[in-house]
Amino acid sequence: MNKLLEKLLSKLPYVIFFAHQKGGSGKSTTCMNVSTELSKKFTTTFIDFDNLQQMTKYNNNREEPMNSVVIKDEKELEQFLRNDKGLTIIDSGGYDSDLSRVILLLADMIIIPMSDSDNDIDGFGEFAHLIEKTFEIRTDSKAFVLINRIHHADKSTHRDLTKYVENTIINVFDTVVRDNKLHKRLLSTGQNVVEKQFFSKPSKEIQSLVQEIIEKA
Ligand SMILES: Nc1ncnc2c1ncn2[C@@H]1O[C@H](COP(=O)(O)OP(=O)(O)OP(=O)(O)O)[C@@H](O)[C@H]1O
Ligand SMILES: [Mg+2]
Repeated sequence: MNKLLEKLLSKLPYVIFFAHQKGGSGKSTTCMNVSTELSKKFTTTFIDFDNLQQMTKYNNNREEPMNSVVIKDEKELEQFLRNDKGLTIIDSGGYDSDLSRVILLLADMIIIPMSDSDNDIDGFGEFAHLIEKTFEIRTDSKAFVLINRIHHADKSTHRDLTKYVENTIINVFDTVVRDNKLHKRLLSTGQNVVEKQFFSKPSKEIQSLVQEIIEKA
């Protein structure tokens, strides 16, 4: 049995953390799509540590909002997780902080959305090193790069980034999320891309990503 199901059946929390120290790589967008799909399968709570509070605004616009908690600091987070029994999904801002380093330690799965832009790739090495240090303590955690917002015809980024991380403890999800305008109107409508257009390409990609997250947890 994988760790997600094992933990939830034992009434222990499973934490997914969307992180990348580079701003604008797609953390909040992916978090909106994925958390609301996962919340249909598991008892899910989200915590919004992004200063822009986009997840919170998106959730407030949903017909059926997800569970969320407002957490101030590391102490409150540890306290919350001590009593939590479900899936907890955390969005963070594009910066390094003491709090984000604590979440790296508490997370079971770290998802790092990044595109093929220099901006996202620059700084990834440093972040990967931080994750490697974290995994010396949390040997049971997993980290995955999610290739996000690439051109619809791009065939090389997945291969190149997989090669780039091949000697590290970081993996790359098989699923790739391509650039599509459907991702740009989530917050204002409170709907993810699956709910917006079930048979669209972005919807298929997000469903595939959700499946991969569950299988690889
Ligand atoms: N697959 C995609 N296709 C099209 N647009 C996308 C996609 N993913 C993200 N975007 C757009 O890219 C921009 C940045 O995305 P987002 O806000 O999710 O990044 P972020 O990593 O959360 O940023 P921050 O570090 O500031 O919190 C947004 O305008 C969003 O709509
Ligand atoms: Mg964000």
